[in-house]
Amino acid sequence: MKERLEELEQQSEAEIAQIDDSAALETYRVKWLGRKGAIAEIMQAMKDATPEERPVIGQGANKLKKAITEAIESKKAEIEAQSASIPTKTIDFSLPGRRPNKGHLHLITQVTNEAVEIFADLGFQVAEGPDIETEYYNFDSLNTPADHPARDSHDTFYVKPGVVLRTHTSPVQMRTMELHQPPVAVIVPGRVYRVDFDASHSPMFNQLEGLLVDKDITFADLKGTLNHFFHAFFGKNVKTRFRPHFFPFTEPSAEVDISCSVCVGSGCRLCKNSGWIEILGCGMVDPEVFKYANYDYDLYSGFAFGVGIDRLALLRHSIDTIHHLFENDLRFLEQF
Ligand code: PHE
Repeated sequence: MKERLEELEQQSEAEIAQIDDSAALETYRVKWLGRKGAIAEIMQAMKDATPEERPVIGQGANKLKKAITEAIESKKAEIEAQSASIPTKTIDFSLPGRRPNKGHLHLITQVTNEAVEIFADLGFQVAEGPDIETEYYNFDSLNTPADHPARDSHDTFYVKPGVVLRTHTSPVQMRTMELHQPPVAVIVPGRVYRVDFDASHSPMFNQLEGLLVDKDITFADLKGTLNHFFHAFFGKNVKTRFRPHFFPFTEPSAEVDISCSVCVGSGCRLCKNSGWIEILGCGMVDPEVFKYANYDYDLYSGFAFGVGIDRLALLRHSIDTIHHLFENDLRFLEQF
C-alpha cells in the first residue's frame, strides 16, 4: 500500500504539471479529490486493511490530499496570473496605418503657379512687393495725380495718410525699375485690395503684373505675349478682345476681355450678360513713368499688364462667383 501511495503522489505531480487552464484544473480536482476520486478510493480501501496498516494508510492519504490541495491552489494562482497578462484584444499588424488627411494647394495658388510658369518659359523673372504700400509707389510714381478718382477712399483702403493697401501690383513696376536698368522682364503675383464687392469683385483679390522694358518694344510685342499666354492657359479656342482704355501709367492703354466660359457667350451673372469678361489692363509704359524710374525714355520702350488671377481661376473652372474662392468651404476647395 505504501508503494501504491508513492506511485499516486508521483502520478498526481506529473499530471498537474501538464495543466495550463482552469477547466483542466477542475477536471483534475474532481479526479483526485472528488467524491469518487483517488483519495476517496484509498479511504474506501482502508476498510479491508489490517489494524496495523490503517494509521499508515490514513496518514499517507492525508499527506497526499494536502499535497494535491496545495498543488491545485498554486496552479490556480499561476493560471490567473498568466491570463491577466494576455491582452484580450489582439492587434492585427497587417492592417494599413491611419493616414493623416493630406491637403493640397489652394486653387488660387495652383493658377498662380501655372500662369507664372508660362511667363517664366518666355524669360520673365518673378518679383514681389509689399501689400501695405506707400501712396508714392501705388499712385504718384505711376503718374496718377492727387485728384484721380482711384485715390478716393471709396475705392482705396487707407492705412494712414500716405500709406495704402496696394490697389494693384503695378507699384512693383517702379520698385523693380529703381533696382534694375533695362532690359527687365518681370512678373509679379500678389494680393491687392479695393473697396468693391459683387459677384465678380472681392475687397481682396489677386493680380499678376507683367513689365517688360528694352529697346524697340512695341504694342505688337504686348499683344503677341498676351495672346500666347491666353492660348497657353485656356487653349486655342479662347477669344480675346483688346478695348482702348486709359491708365495713367500706360499710353496707349487697353483692357483685354476674354470670352465667358461659364455661359459661353449666352450671358450669365459672372459676365453681367455680356458674354465677355474683363480680365486684364495693359499698355505701353508711359514716358512719365520712365522719368520717375530714371530710365532714358528716348532709348527704351516697354509694355506692362495686370491680369486678375482670380478671374483666370473662375473662367478655367466655370465658377460663377469670386467669393467661393475665399470662403474656405472644403466642399468647394476639394474639387480642385
Ligand atoms: N494696374 C491696373 C489695374 O489694376 C492694370 C494695369 C497694369 C494696366 C499694367 C496697365 C498696365 O487695373
